[in-house]
Amino acid sequence: MGKDTIILAIESSCDETSAAVIKNGRHILSNIISSQIKDHKKFGGVVPEVASRKHIENISHVIDTALNEAELSFDDLDGIAVTYGPGLVGALLIGLTTAKALAYARKLSLIGVNHIEGHIYANFIQYKELEPPFVCLVASGGHSHIVNMLDYGKYEIMGMTRDDAAGEAFDKIARALGLGYPGGPLVDNIAKEGDPTAIDFPRAYLEEGSYDFSFSGLKSAVLNYLNSLKMKGIKPNIPDVAASFQQAVVDVLSDKLIAAAEEKNSPYAVLAGGVAANSKLREELRNKGAKKGIQVLYPDPILCTDNAAMIGSAGYYKLMRGEVSDMSLNAIPNLAL
Ligand code: KG4
Ligand code: ZN
Repeated sequence: MGKDTIILAIESSCDETSAAVIKNGRHILSNIISSQIKDHKKFGGVVPEVASRKHIENISHVIDTALNEAELSFDDLDGIAVTYGPGLVGALLIGLTTAKALAYARKLSLIGVNHIEGHIYANFIQYKELEPPFVCLVASGGHSHIVNMLDYGKYEIMGMTRDDAAGEAFDKIARALGLGYPGGPLVDNIAKEGDPTAIDFPRAYLEEGSYDFSFSGLKSAVLNYLNSLKMKGIKPNIPDVAASFQQAVVDVLSDKLIAAAEEKNSPYAVLAGGVAANSKLREELRNKGAKKGIQVLYPDPILCTDNAAMIGSAGYYKLMRGEVSDMSLNAIPNLAL
């Protein structure tokens, strides 16, 4: 056995300040996540200025804690992986400049990681034997992609959202229902008490064979439904609206992911991103996958939402390919996969 490769990973693209120590790309030695949810809750969504400020306040402590929990020091590291996009530019810059300063001072390899790519790698931590190729749905607050992962670092985008991301739709509907922020887990929870067939909201499958998504029509349909009840002075049944909305999203996401996996003969349909934590999506996919002989994989909820461990895994495979960054690495808010 050769020497272990140890990576310190840093993630600050949105509202979680996170640092992780990852061994050989798949083993978590620590994964510290400092969530800013309580700081943004009163505004009903992430305020970029507040996010940057909170990242500055927290990042040193989060990194120290990650190293302490792993019982390692900077001398034990082989590289520093960091998210450089996509995300909020001010938020990204805090993690990135910290990573650059540490890599420079400690003469460590700097590895810039794409956040969307990172989400997929959460599955390599969850499933130690999993190898590409496979088809994956990455659905989060900022993106909804169906990706054919051909090899480490090689992706074929089969489809993506044409308007809102799936998580964004959950967050907007949660706000309209007065549930709070972030909306996904709240809708997921309250929908358990509702009837998913109560209201027949539209499903946008788009053109035949398309793996793209569109959630803006569904969002408008839910808002119109709520408005029309309000005009009549009728109170909506919140669990029913949440369950019916969630079912409409889950139907489209699961049908398209299974169809994409079938088209590519992928033995797995893999889920990633915050929306992958959705209990109905997981259940529906397990059922649809079982009928087609496709195994459905998803990480634990803590690895679905933003975390540095997934960035460390993606960073490890980049380091193994010799794909390191130099000090000119900059934050790219709209970085594509
Ligand atoms: O991956 P993530 O933490 O951040 C981004 O990269 O955007 O995803 C956050 C998104 C939010 O929109 C949140 O509402 C959604 O994931 N989410 C969920 C659930 N948990 C988080 N959506 C549906 N059901 C859930 N259980
Ligand atoms: Zn994310």
